[in-house]
Amino acid sequence: MNKNKNLKVTPLIGLQWGDEGKGKGVARIASSLSKNDLVTRFQGGNNAGHTIFHKGKSYVFQLIPSGVFGKVKIHLGAGMVINPYAFLKETERIPEEISFLSRLSVSPHAVLVMPTHLFLDSISEKSKGKKKIGSTGKGISPSYTDLVMRRALRIGDISQRDFKNRYKILRDEHKKILKNIFQYKVSDKELRESERNFWQGIKFIRSLIIKNSAELVAETLAKNGKVIAEGAQGTLHDIRFGNYPFVTSSHTFAGGVATGLGIPPALIGGSIGILKAYSTRVGEGPFPTELGGEKSAVWCRDKKVIDEKEKFPHPQIGSMLNSKDEFIQGVALRKAGSEIGAVTGRLRRTGWLDIPLVKFAMKINNTTELVLTKLDVFNNFKKIKVCTHYIIDGKATTKIPFDLSREKIKCIYKSFPIWKGKLSDYHGKPTRLNSRSGELPKEAINYIKYLEKTLGAKIIYVCTGPEEHECIERYW
Ligand code: GDP
Ligand code: IMO
Ligand code: MG
Repeated sequence: MNKNKNLKVTPLIGLQWGDEGKGKGVARIASSLSKNDLVTRFQGGNNAGHTIFHKGKSYVFQLIPSGVFGKVKIHLGAGMVINPYAFLKETERIPEEISFLSRLSVSPHAVLVMPTHLFLDSISEKSKGKKKIGSTGKGISPSYTDLVMRRALRIGDISQRDFKNRYKILRDEHKKILKNIFQYKVSDKELRESERNFWQGIKFIRSLIIKNSAELVAETLAKNGKVIAEGAQGTLHDIRFGNYPFVTSSHTFAGGVATGLGIPPALIGGSIGILKAYSTRVGEGPFPTELGGEKSAVWCRDKKVIDEKEKFPHPQIGSMLNSKDEFIQGVALRKAGSEIGAVTGRLRRTGWLDIPLVKFAMKINNTTELVLTKLDVFNNFKKIKVCTHYIIDGKATTKIPFDLSREKIKCIYKSFPIWKGKLSDYHGKPTRLNSRSGELPKEAINYIKYLEKTLGAKIIYVCTGPEEHECIERYW
């Protein structure tokens, strides 16, 4: 992070369709921060799945900010939707030796995800048939809907005397919608268990520090502390500027930091963009550079990890990575990058990096620095591609059209040769978190320099593996 950003909030945002490696990026940056600094989420809920490899073990955080293993303060911000039981369970997975409760706080403005929100999410998704969004089914959209309808229950309501009563009124309203609109009757048994969990989660939240996001940010900045606003999902999932309607229900880009924490836009500095060396997308929606196009989209919608394992056993991967059949190459990229949904276990669709979309994302986020992740996944490829332009109405452009659907767009690609062997053969295994000793093959440096020049931002870290230490600080 630039030193001159000290008095501003730094958004850390995924520049694609989520799963870019935000968890790893935040954990890496937070490891050098102190107890006066803050990592806060500002939107989304447990639809997110941020993976961190800590001391040889993999953790997936959905609500808790990815600074949890450091010394920093961590906060669940006002713009979030919080499932109390999921929150409780997530804290129970944190190893005992990590003391975090005194560093953790929650905004009173964040919305509660109720058990009936989960029913509403899955039933309304089912009712869409082929037009489904591919929601994670975590109740995100119905929770934000209640916020917009001005009837949501929020964390601050928990301590009010009429909370239980308000809960029952809203729950019964949801049941009516389920019955009358979707012809779905929630069975008492089904609801009883999830409500028991919900109240257990509420009890847990009552024991936590409830703190206004804006005040916490102001206090931190006043003491010269750094503030990282950890985005969830990707910029292209933004409710307004993403590929609507195949989006989530919050503002995922840096614009959401002001409304999600209640701070003046002037307090927001340049953002750090997390950029995966290729593209993935889970769920439905346009994906111009998808390897295998429609065939891949259908395969990932209909098949499970086990189906793919049976049809394409791992030993075939070397030849598959360089297959002339793009669908096969996409399968191999998915295997090489372990591109399986961290929350839902779905197959992530795979494709090449899309420069026009990334440029758009960087523009609306004011991205000044980049973290490039998963470069090691290109090991064993002979060459990879990048979409540099679209051809729309016969002309090459980097402008993003309103309609991104496959029939409307053709991509122009540039190829890059790939190194021989593995990236780790060149830099060894860095053992220190701050390792600057790495070497990268010239092909990797060419790719990195091309991205920096084309995107107009400096890559501050290059990540070369899932583990905490597998990140090389830019040194050349
Ligand atoms: P997030 O939602 O943006 O935090 O990303 P996810 O955790 O959903 O997905 C990223 C996946 O890639 C996780 O399994 C990470 O452990 C893994 N990962 C992150 N960085 C790297 C990297 O540089 N190389 C490899 N091979 N895996 C990585
Ligand atoms: P992280 O933070 C990737 C996708 C879903 C679906 C759409 C809407 O781990 O990057 P929702 O449940 O929000 O109503 O689903 O958004 N989606 C994600 N895709 N990474 C995520 O989070 C996502 N969160 C939601 O697959 O297409
Ligand atoms: Mg994820």
